[in-house]
Amino acid sequence: MAFAKISQVAHYVPEQVVTNHDLAQIMDTNDEWISSRTGIRQRHISRTESTSDLATEVAKKLMAKAGITGEELDFIILATITPDSMMPSTAARVQANIGANKAFAFDLTAACSGFVFALSTAEKFIASGRFQKGLVIGSETLSKAVDWSDRSTAVLFGDGAGGVLLETSEQEHFLAESLNSDGSRSECLTYGHSGLHSPFSDQENADSFLKMDGRAVFDFAIRDVAKSIKQTIDESPIEATDLDYLLLHQANDRILDKMARKIGVDRAKLPANMMEYGNTSAASIPILLSECVEQGLIRLDGSQTVLLSGFGGGLTWGTLILTI
Ligand code: ACO
Repeated sequence: MAFAKISQVAHYVPEQVVTNHDLAQIMDTNDEWISSRTGIRQRHISRTESTSDLATEVAKKLMAKAGITGEELDFIILATITPDSMMPSTAARVQANIGANKAFAFDLTAACSGFVFALSTAEKFIASGRFQKGLVIGSETLSKAVDWSDRSTAVLFGDGAGGVLLETSEQEHFLAESLNSDGSRSECLTYGHSGLHSPFSDQENADSFLKMDGRAVFDFAIRDVAKSIKQTIDESPIEATDLDYLLLHQANDRILDKMARKIGVDRAKLPANMMEYGNTSAASIPILLSECVEQGLIRLDGSQTVLLSGFGGGLTWGTLILTI
């Protein structure tokens, strides 16, 4: 039986910072409304870089940290809801950019759960014993997905990318997981409908911006996701008190407050960085993980236990517990 471990982490965000005050110049909003309801104070917005450009920077950083070349990689899994194109995949673009010519590469779409779903998938590839090294990246340019005339969503999101190098290990690191979807509630968070538009169909092409029923998503997060996280901990070999950190999707600081209470852990164990980046969907957890490592909170020496949990469009939600 082969085991997988996260050996490197990295993140990259576009240089341009857009504050809540900047947004108040172009739409009917204000810093007080945004920060009191969400915690968000600014976000990074890409001027020219695409989702694959951001992901490529993360891939280069991961390889530099590990001292490896692209040729040593077996796979690249890229979680995104804002791909450069449907075909080729954004992962294939990254593969070409870093010369990972032996790797297979594909995108995975699970919205804000994308990184957790991708990491779980990658762990199975390594556990199969057939693959030794791969990149798992969450990368988004949500600035192209939001309707900039809709203040109720435009203020929430940002662009960025984060990722990990996953490698074989002699010890078991992935302790528990729970992956979930509920397509029957898909309408509360949607983006990118493509209707039928052939001369033989009865539908118009219906491309759309991101739409969200904020209240429904808020309730989903604090009810279903908190319950699922608690259950995953209960079914795992560890106790909640054994967790050093819980890295949850960075949508809203109030959601994190309520989740900490419901799960029964100290809020100090739930780091947050949506203040600086907004909600970066599939990129939010790996960006947070990378920052925690930079700040020395997480050491990547196998001595700590962390929980990662993503939740969002689909609906989807997923939790992983691992030693790191
Ligand atoms: N600036 C100023 N006023 C605003 C803005 C804005 N940017 N957006 C909405 N408003 C107004 C509304 O028009 C409304 O005004 P009205 O009462 O006169 O009609 C008022 O503020 C209240 O609007 P609500 O939508 O009821 O505000 P609410 O308190 O529910 O907060 C929010 C909205 C922050 C989106 C909240 O529902 C939330 O956090 N939801 C969680 C969803 C989330 O974070 N999603 C992120 C993506 S999904 C994911 O990642 C899981």
